[in-house]
Amino acid sequence: MRIIAVANQKGGCGKTTIVINLAACLAREGQRTLVVDLDPQGHCALGLAVPEEQIEVSIAEVLQTQGSDQPVDLSRATWQISSNYDLVPAKTNLAQLEQKLAGVPNREGRLALALEMVRDKYDFVLIDSPPTIGLLTQSALHAADEVIVPVDTGYFSLHGLSKQLDTIRELRASHSRSIRVRILANLYDVRTKLGREILAELRKRHGDAMFSSFVNFNTKLKESTSLGQPITEYDPASSGCRDFVRFARELIAIGGEAPPAFEPRPPARAAAAPAPAIADDSLIRRANALADDASRLLASTQTLLGPGRPAPAPSPTPTPEETERRIEMIYGARAVTDGVVFVLNALQANSVRLAGDFNGWNPDRAPMMHLRDGIYHLKLPLGPGRYRYRYVVDGRWITDPANLAVETNPYGDLNSVIEVR
Ligand SMILES: Nc1ncnc2c1ncn2[C@@H]1O[C@H](COP(=O)(O)OP(=O)(O)OP(=O)(O)O)[C@@H](O)[C@H]1O
Ligand SMILES: [Mg+2]
Repeated sequence: MRIIAVANQKGGCGKTTIVINLAACLAREGQRTLVVDLDPQGHCALGLAVPEEQIEVSIAEVLQTQGSDQPVDLSRATWQISSNYDLVPAKTNLAQLEQKLAGVPNREGRLALALEMVRDKYDFVLIDSPPTIGLLTQSALHAADEVIVPVDTGYFSLHGLSKQLDTIRELRASHSRSIRVRILANLYDVRTKLGREILAELRKRHGDAMFSSFVNFNTKLKESTSLGQPITEYDPASSGCRDFVRFARELIAIGGEAPPAFEPRPPARAAAAPAPAIADDSLIRRANALADDASRLLASTQTLLGPGRPAPAPSPTPTPEETERRIEMIYGARAVTDGVVFVLNALQANSVRLAGDFNGWNPDRAPMMHLRDGIYHLKLPLGPGRYRYRYVVDGRWITDPANLAVETNPYGDLNSVIEVR
């Protein structure tokens, strides 16, 4: 069982959004997942349509009674959200816990104790924490083996981040336990210069501790939470859902192994900074040119009738949203008359290869070609059949983030699947 706290002192950086939707995607990938809300704001229950007035036993009662003669079992506070997806909600009474447990020894160890009881029941426990450092966040960090620090790619994100990382380091030192800390960029907007600069800066300073996945700004994520649904139910075709599917798969794939030492790198000299993926002023123009190029590439392969998506048609004056949609539609694997075209977005990759049952899982036999701006493509002459494949990006094997069709392989990893009729 992997216990992961999602924490950042900064409010509104997406902790709850990440917990709710990551859990939904982990559950969808067959991982038995428990969300524990440690925030008295109770946003997890709100975001998953669990009515507060019907919550009789919440995390507060569990923590309050741990270590007593009659501890309240975590299962009494557990709500089933969907298959593989459970929630232990919080209510406003959780805010009084710190006061109630004042002076009690090892009070921050109570959550860890309660979770011990369900160790065999879940593959993942995700803990949502409040935007303050106090007993609740300390309990989350005490119980966790891993921490996800969501960072919004806005102006003050780097400042808040250093503070949060310092706090986690201090906690780790005081408990002499090792906690794996990784950063997830959230609320990313490729169309703003600031967003791109912040992401580049984050990668420069904390590259080793960052997830490769990031979560784009997507209004569907906001809407889904306000309607009490995870994104997997509200809009499975949205880019928000795709981001979380990709993130869940990355999290599963990396397992619980420790990342490299977590020390900030010295800031690189300005001259050595990599150029942003898309030039500043002409962003939309270049993004459209990119979509046009990819449209031509796909049109030249004559898309088959059938389940494949239609090639995105160039439009004279597309809005930024249309541009974004067109670019997203390009990615994935699609059947064409004389084979299958694979297209992957791998910004900043040096080498991208394709391996599958069609080439004996030997990536050296299928290097992918770079189209432009991090788009890689390859057409293989595959006839009708069902094919399993993975990409190998700079030596790392990944499933296709744009293809929701997957199956588990004998090693417990996921292969992407494409059917050609
Ligand atoms: N990737 C995203 N795209 C669009 N909206 C987002 C995204 N991530 C978060 N939001 C929105 O930003 C707001 C803050 O997100 P959220 O509540 O998850 O933050 P938080 O860190 O849990 O906040 P708090 O510290 O108050 O608990 C919410 O309205 C949420 O819907
Ligand atoms: Mg929250």
